[in-house]
Amino acid sequence: MKKTLALALAVVMSLGLLAGCGNSGEKNPGSSGSGSTPNTSASNPGGSSNPANSIPEAPAGGGTVGVCIYKFDDAFMTTYRNSLEEILEGKGYKVTVVDGNNDQAKQNEQINNFITQGVDALIINPVMTSAADQIITTVKDANIPTVLINREPTAEQMAAYDKLVYVGCDARQSGTMQGELILDTATGGDINGDGVIKYIMIQGDPENIDAQYRTEFSVKALEDAGKKVEQLNLTRGDWDRNRGQEIAANDLAQFGDQIEVIFCNNDDMAIGALQAIQQAGRKVNEDIYLVGVDALDAALNEVQAGNMTGTVLNDAVGQATAAVAEMEKLLGGATYSSGNQSVYVDYVKVTPENVSEFMK
Ligand code: BGC
Repeated sequence: MKKTLALALAVVMSLGLLAGCGNSGEKNPGSSGSGSTPNTSASNPGGSSNPANSIPEAPAGGGTVGVCIYKFDDAFMTTYRNSLEEILEGKGYKVTVVDGNNDQAKQNEQINNFITQGVDALIINPVMTSAADQIITTVKDANIPTVLINREPTAEQMAAYDKLVYVGCDARQSGTMQGELILDTATGGDINGDGVIKYIMIQGDPENIDAQYRTEFSVKALEDAGKKVEQLNLTRGDWDRNRGQEIAANDLAQFGDQIEVIFCNNDDMAIGALQAIQQAGRKVNEDIYLVGVDALDAALNEVQAGNMTGTVLNDAVGQATAAVAEMEKLLGGATYSSGNQSVYVDYVKVTPENVSEFMK
């Protein structure tokens, strides 16, 4: 009886996965509670084309894993790589984590070195999404099970190799949540009540789909709620705190009180923007709104103190856990069919009301 139930569940889960995964072209952004998110939760068996009950267990630890990070000097990826290392080592793997220094040529070399060393699996955070084809060809030729993280290639690119899976989040969801954080404020974002929400956008590296989608879907959430919006400026801040500070300082000098909302594609840039806001004598949640993404510790403190309107949890630990789980499935012999190679972890809205739940 129990066995039948488990089997039925496995079938239902894999059907759900077929419907929910590998949909980078899907139009429907996830919104909190909408149920439209490509919702392969981290606990699901990741779109394996094998029935879940026929996947052999991976050998318990003991293997070697090469981890390539696009650059160590990135606040979010620092938390992420620390979690990866901890989880992998905790499971008995021998792990080497390398810094790509934001240089794709260097990362290509590191991947080749890992292959020469004969690692059992690779976890790769590509420097450039546009390098995905090359990376995928390299790992496929070497027949190394590979988990890509943080920078999502297209489903078509991933289809080239069935021992490859992507673990990340659907960035549309985070953008939508940023817009919702603004809509949920006392003025709905229109501080001066003139019927138009005027904002600046501080963007991450636009080559990264996270930056593209957050930029698009944060504003779309406002428009979908019937709000009029006006973008005063959009500037590339490359995910970096100092750039966030510089850009916000320039825009505040240029546009002054016209700016009602500062959207930052990540928290590190938002923390920088906050410094500029404070230097300009403005007060978050009174005469300007500020939102980020990631839920870095520093941002959680600022949300709690009322210096950021809110942020969105980009669950580094959840993604690291899912990445290792997928890697173990690959090591156990699982393969992924085309269109089912993305595993998403949900984002979560963080507001002053629930921020304490996220603080360690
Ligand atoms: C994070 C950023 C980070 C970027 C690196 C994004 O998902 O929100 O903080 O800099 O990934 O690729």
